Amino acid sequence: MSTNAAFSAPAASLSASTAQPWRIGLIGFGCVGQGLFDILSQQPAAGFSIARIVVKTPGKARPLPAERFEYDPQAVLEDDTLDVLVEVIDDAEVAFQLVAEALRRGRRVVTANKAMLARHLPELIRLQREGRGTLLYEAAVCGSIPVIRTLDAYFSTEPLRRLTGILNGSSNYVLTRMGEDGSDYSPALAEAQTLGFAETDPTLDMGAFDPRSKAVLLAAHAYGAFLQPEQVLNLGIEGIGAVDIAFAASQGQKIKVVAGLQRLPDGRVTVLVTPQLIGPESPLYTVDQEFNGVVIEADFAGEQFLRGRGAGGHPTGSAVLADLAALRQGFAYQYAKAAAAPTYASDLEVEIYLRTDEDRIIDLLDFSEISEEADEDEYVVGYVALENLIRHRDTLRKYGAFIVRTGRLRPISVGTELAEEVSA
Ligand SMILES: NC(=O)c1ccc[n+]([C@@H]2O[C@H](COP(=O)([O-])OP(=O)(O)OC[C@H]3O[C@@H](n4cnc5c(N)ncnc54)[C@H](OP(=O)(O)O)[C@@H]3O)[C@@H](O)[C@H]2O)c1
Repeated sequence: MSTNAAFSAPAASLSASTAQPWRIGLIGFGCVGQGLFDILSQQPAAGFSIARIVVKTPGKARPLPAERFEYDPQAVLEDDTLDVLVEVIDDAEVAFQLVAEALRRGRRVVTANKAMLARHLPELIRLQREGRGTLLYEAAVCGSIPVIRTLDAYFSTEPLRRLTGILNGSSNYVLTRMGEDGSDYSPALAEAQTLGFAETDPTLDMGAFDPRSKAVLLAAHAYGAFLQPEQVLNLGIEGIGAVDIAFAASQGQKIKVVAGLQRLPDGRVTVLVTPQLIGPESPLYTVDQEFNGVVIEADFAGEQFLRGRGAGGHPTGSAVLADLAALRQGFAYQYAKAAAAPTYASDLEVEIYLRTDEDRIIDLLDFSEISEEADEDEYVVGYVALENLIRHRDTLRKYGAFIVRTGRLRPISVGTELAEEVSA
């Protein structure tokens, strides 16, 4: 074999450059849609062309000529000359109708809509199977970080002990700013909004609803566990103050909003998305600003750490492009672990730091053990039942209570006899 032959690509991988480019129907031309458009403009050899673009608002100022845009997604769904549909709109319900219809028609679809996916994943998988379509969504979790495909394909057969991740860049940015200069929550949030790292309505990001959707998707691929978002405890940072950051710092730790997915010693799985104390021994400790990070702990591979940009036109567009390329190679998610899906566990006790000036919140949570109490700083550290936190999360939010997990979990205590602790 000559040297050139040794380095020449196999026939299959030549197809991207020699075959006809795949024609994309792009639905949505906001941050992600424009990011993808820009990337493909810079990568003409990638083998994809955006043939049709659907948006919502006629007359809106756009960076392309008006004749490039249309307004009826149905016409694009019905266009069989398109090889693939990319759905990147900001309306979860309309997105579900479009993606469901496309899958019924047996289309290939890429989406970035985590809220829609977290709500409807089992149904979309059924439609995909029945209609023989294919749905990929790497961009929906951690933007540019290739975590979904890593879990679904690379770790399809390896059991995972734990997955911990910072899955929301907006809240991470706010926490980083508060940690850097001791500023309070409101000015840090206002700065994040000015810089475009946080939405005008910050509830989804700061209330940990957005990372909860992502955690639901991770649970499906990491464990084969299909959860409804409400099953997963999500606590946000709206109630955080400089005093909480100082408490963490006094222990050499930072507060991060962490999604923790964990296999318990009995084989069941639990998922929590809350602020958590993170020490320098964790790779997540240095995931600051608007970055995302995921630590995967596998039974045989050991610990792996992925870090990158979780949002923005180019990072998210990059993940959409990766899905397009994977589709062209015939890739589809296997959900291999769903065949032996674990039971979801919420009968656990979680160790928390709670700061509140409302005694009724402490009564409501019914601590089974209190290890530390500081009247002047209005905080308590101790164990509470996870089910109490889930049941009362809206009340906690309403009264501005701030909760951080220490990272320790244990089975519901039987009397005063404490079972072995499992760290989260
Ligand atoms: N932004 C990110 O960094 C990021 C990261 C990961 C995932 N995502 C997800 O990606 C999706 C898109 O986010 P984005 O930030 O790109 O949103 P965006 O900037 O708000 O843009 C949304 C686009 O969707 C179009 N649209 C909305 N409803 C439509 C409808 N019924 N029919 C046709 N077009 C419609 C809008 O049209 P007009 O232009 O006419 O208003 C706009 O072009 C969301 O699901 C989001 O959660 C975003």
